[in-house]
Amino acid sequence: MTDFSPGRANSKGLSGGRLDTASYHRNHLPLRAVLAPYLEGRTGHVLEIGAGSGQHALGFARAFPDLAFWPSDPDPAHRKSIAAWAETERLANLRAPFSLDVREPWRLNAPGHPPAALQAVIAINVLHIAPWDVSEALIAGAAKNLVPNGFLFVYGPFARDGAMSEGNAAFDESLKRANPVWGVRDISELERLAGDAGMRLEAVKDMPAGNNVLVFGNSRERRAHWPSKALPR
Ligand SMILES: C[S@@+](CC[C@H](N)C(=O)[O-])C[C@H]1O[C@@H](n2cnc3c(N)ncnc32)[C@H](O)[C@@H]1O
Repeated sequence: MTDFSPGRANSKGLSGGRLDTASYHRNHLPLRAVLAPYLEGRTGHVLEIGAGSGQHALGFARAFPDLAFWPSDPDPAHRKSIAAWAETERLANLRAPFSLDVREPWRLNAPGHPPAALQAVIAINVLHIAPWDVSEALIAGAAKNLVPNGFLFVYGPFARDGAMSEGNAAFDESLKRANPVWGVRDISELERLAGDAGMRLEAVKDMPAGNNVLVFGNSRERRAHWPSKALPR
């Protein structure tokens, strides 16, 4: 059976199946600050890929009440944690978790799944702890299912044209020792995939600990839908 969650050792188990991930506490507020200018003022549906513990989804749903958040994860223990965190607040705009391996058909529009017209897709710390075909499938799936002016947000450690910080290089080596098909992904490679799929790298945001958020915009009819106020880069 595929082990989707080699990093679960970094989580602490709480009551009811909730997992508490250390990185959530470091990253959540900086992530929300990056997302806010893109998400505020929107209504509709946001899909989170590899939602893990579910703590980010709960925080996003609280912060952006006009959007419906759909956390997904292929790992049943993670879906249990997501549902258990959701129970602690019962927010009307946080949907029940569903199983999604991005390499499989996304099965949107089905009961218990979001519509295939997403305002945003979010993937936090997924691409480096997964084979390269997960990056390919994430970008292809997002391009297919985002509304014309929608965004894909990808958070993690990255290289650029083969170069990366010392910290990320050491992390990359440790990832490859654990599994040769994992590794820090290169922004230029992801940008190439996005271009092939009809999306554009709109911004690279610096985050704590040398990480980044990559913001990909769906280029289709972009000008017609974007707010008049310029978005921050
Ligand atoms: C390191 S965890 C990150 C969890 C959460 N996003 C966070 O930052 O706390 C990676 C997540 O990616 C999910 N994942 C791994 N392979 C996947 C795939 N092929 N499709 C979708 N999710 C996947 C795992 O189940 C796991 O929840």
